[in-house]
Amino acid sequence: MHYDEEKLIAYFSDAPDDIDMSQLDMARIPRHISCIMDGNGRWATARGLARTEGHKAGIVSLREVITAAVRLGVDVLSAYAFSTENWNRPKHEVNVLMHLFAKTFIDELPLLKRENVRVVFLGDISALPARTREVFEYGLAECRDHTGMVLALAVNYGGRAEIVRAARQLAMLVKDGSLAPEDIDEATVANHLFTAGLPDPELVIRTSGELRVSNYLLWQIAYAEFYITDTYWPDFSRWDLVRAILAFQGRDRRFGGLSTPAR
Ligand code: FPP
Repeated sequence: MHYDEEKLIAYFSDAPDDIDMSQLDMARIPRHISCIMDGNGRWATARGLARTEGHKAGIVSLREVITAAVRLGVDVLSAYAFSTENWNRPKHEVNVLMHLFAKTFIDELPLLKRENVRVVFLGDISALPARTREVFEYGLAECRDHTGMVLALAVNYGGRAEIVRAARQLAMLVKDGSLAPEDIDEATVANHLFTAGLPDPELVIRTSGELRVSNYLLWQIAYAEFYITDTYWPDFSRWDLVRAILAFQGRDRRFGGLSTPAR
């Protein structure tokens, strides 16, 4: 993806001591970076604040990471905002999150327009409260023609549910005679996931030190590299994103093969 060198340099000036921006290989920026934004609640609790304050602070981080990803020329940035399991949280927290999602989308529309970001949702947004759903639909329409980075927000998302949904869609096509079972391959399945048309994540970042996948993009992360940091999401900055990409660029990605030809 195209990036603007001047804007890149300006956005990443004043690097902390442990980061040498010249080490970043711009030809090997991951096309799709995915964030499991964890630790908002603990960040807030550690400061004696309500958990919901952590979510508000998390939105500030998300804004910075969106901008940083655009500056770096990332094609797709995805973020896990709300899982199908998150409905089990206290009602008040769910309500605040739903309100925050809607407010954030409206507040950030100028940024998304300025940076030419197209938004897609991963997950069943039809099951969200009416106000949140309406705002999402309005925002989606506002960004529909953008041609820059894709921001894929996983809201009411579950990886297993997504695969079940794809299986049902394919079964219906077989039932009505428009698809032969022997024609189903990996591409057919991928085309029936919420991420249809998007490249798979190459780099998955999980904050707050948890070593779990949490039902996230189960199909799509088959060959993703993981970067786990103890940093809570509200403290995650553009520099943490660079650290993650530098770590990614230091990995030997073999996709089941060998890194050097066998003798
Ligand atoms: C995980 O922290 C974070 C969330 C469940 C929500 C994250 C959502 C945002 C940052 C806003 C996204 C914005 C839009 C527009 C979709 P946690 O509560 O699980 O933290 P804990 O593990 O410390 O409890």
